[in-house]
Amino acid sequence: MPATFPDEKTSPGFSKSRRDVMAERRSKMTHQEIRQNFLAFFKERGHTIVPSSSLLPNDPSVLFTTAGMQQFKPYYTGEADPIKDFGALNTTSIQKSMRTSDIDEVGDERHLTFFEMMGNFSFGGYFKEKAIQFAHEFITKEMGLKIDYITVFEGESGVPADEESEKIWKSIDPKIEVKKFGRADNFWGPTGDQGPCGPTTEIYIDGIEIWNIVFNQYFQHSDKTLEQLKTPGIDTGMGLERLVMVSQNVPTIFETDLFTPLLKPLPLELDSRQRRIISDHLRAAVFLLSDSIAPSNKDQGYVLRRLLRRVLTIEHQLKLSPQVFENVLLSVIENFGAFYPNLVEHKNDIINAYFAESAKFKKTLAQGLKELERIAEIDAPAAFKLYESFGLPFEVVKDIAGEKAKNLTREAFDEEFKKHQEKSRAGSERKFGGHGLLLDTGELKAANEEEVKIVTRLHTATHLLHAALRKVLGADVKQAGSDITAERLRFDFSFPRKLTPEEIKQVEDTVNEAVKQDVIVTKEELSYEDALKTGALSFFKLKYPPKVNVYSVGDFSKELCGGPHVTHSGEIGQFKIKKEEAVSAGVRRIRAVVDPE
Ligand code: ALA
Repeated sequence: MPATFPDEKTSPGFSKSRRDVMAERRSKMTHQEIRQNFLAFFKERGHTIVPSSSLLPNDPSVLFTTAGMQQFKPYYTGEADPIKDFGALNTTSIQKSMRTSDIDEVGDERHLTFFEMMGNFSFGGYFKEKAIQFAHEFITKEMGLKIDYITVFEGESGVPADEESEKIWKSIDPKIEVKKFGRADNFWGPTGDQGPCGPTTEIYIDGIEIWNIVFNQYFQHSDKTLEQLKTPGIDTGMGLERLVMVSQNVPTIFETDLFTPLLKPLPLELDSRQRRIISDHLRAAVFLLSDSIAPSNKDQGYVLRRLLRRVLTIEHQLKLSPQVFENVLLSVIENFGAFYPNLVEHKNDIINAYFAESAKFKKTLAQGLKELERIAEIDAPAAFKLYESFGLPFEVVKDIAGEKAKNLTREAFDEEFKKHQEKSRAGSERKFGGHGLLLDTGELKAANEEEVKIVTRLHTATHLLHAALRKVLGADVKQAGSDITAERLRFDFSFPRKLTPEEIKQVEDTVNEAVKQDVIVTKEELSYEDALKTGALSFFKLKYPPKVNVYSVGDFSKELCGGPHVTHSGEIGQFKIKKEEAVSAGVRRIRAVVDPE
């Protein structure tokens, strides 16, 4: 295929060098245009555009969505039908992704936690030849970029070398440089403990890997054996940040228009490492919060908490205004909102959640930093203590303690963390009668047996309150948050105005009527879909596993929930609303108690 531009070396008299022409073309494309071009390119070539799936994957064996193919796993294996769901055998997407393995490296020129992955996928529509042609055409013609070299799989452990891909590349561009590598570099997958996988070919530009094209030929079982897939498939992944970087011709991803608006609100006294940490971490946090992940002490919520607390520590140490950070959050929402409208929809929730975590952390941060100063050498148990007592995450300790923590490793800290989690799980299993729940479920918090009983009553009362609000104020009322301690329940819900005293009374009466009737509380285990079909409420901001529990309080309420609950509504006792107030535009908050004095 002829090149669009003559080669600099062979055409010395050409008025504009190829590089200049390309630079001109490159600098004109914003990240928004690059996204649109990518999706349009594949749409024109028979692909259905599929929106990004959530950062919370359906697959419980992985913490986050880390690649575009994750939402398409069942289409490779034939479990799901792409024609039925997408009207085509080929799809394309830009997938929100999160990888935490590099979290300690963030702050240098190239590592990120959150990133976006552009991809085209085929489930029996086309295979190697078309996939390579598409990629070559997009990079060289659409983007006007020059490929440095490509890599192919050289064969290893019973899987043959991918000679076919090399031939296809050479037929497109006989001069292209081909490098060959083994399983570590040129074989993908599977994500999770089993799934589709296969050899890859990768495109390099300016010395960095830009695009990974996977030929899904096998299914890897959890015992690591490979089975040939009936229909081979295509899975590709191109990091948007890297493509924008080479396209905009800037030396680091932080100088692309993905990041420059985020860095703008930051004051000059911050060094470049801090600026990168703040922009990466707050960008990731906005996306996690918009996918309804809340800061907590486990799983995804724990990752979010660490990201936020690292940023909050910088704010505290440099005595920066909280407004600076709010401005960064708003810039993220603005810069990415056109493509991800749910960021704009959740704007208030995101800002509120940030400041709620900030308030929580600031209660103990100063004390924690003092304690950190006092300790001579920080090993894993000392670091864990700082986390447990003062909420200082590992990376904050590492950032601040310097020499004193030079022997502290992430592995040792994680080990300590795991030990503690096992202990506390065993403890709470006793408390909750072996239901396997943690004492701190995120929603319910209790310090001892006595408190567990009270929060359990308040929890069932919360379900009744939710149902009563919908009955009195209308079915538009949606739960926006719930927090239960031994002192009170706190319930946030969407509603546009202050409640009248009559409405408050009606809500209280409705709950107390259910208490008086002493109806039975039942639990059913159903698939998420079946649970929704029963009409159970599922407004709480959580991602549900494939099997869920539905709790019913007589005919009064039916909700998806992890428990614990009382067995009869009569155990709740007299219910009383203590306060009704606004949390943000369109969201109200009720505090209520049982057994009022
Ligand atoms: N699934 C492949 C990757 O994420 C394309 O690199």
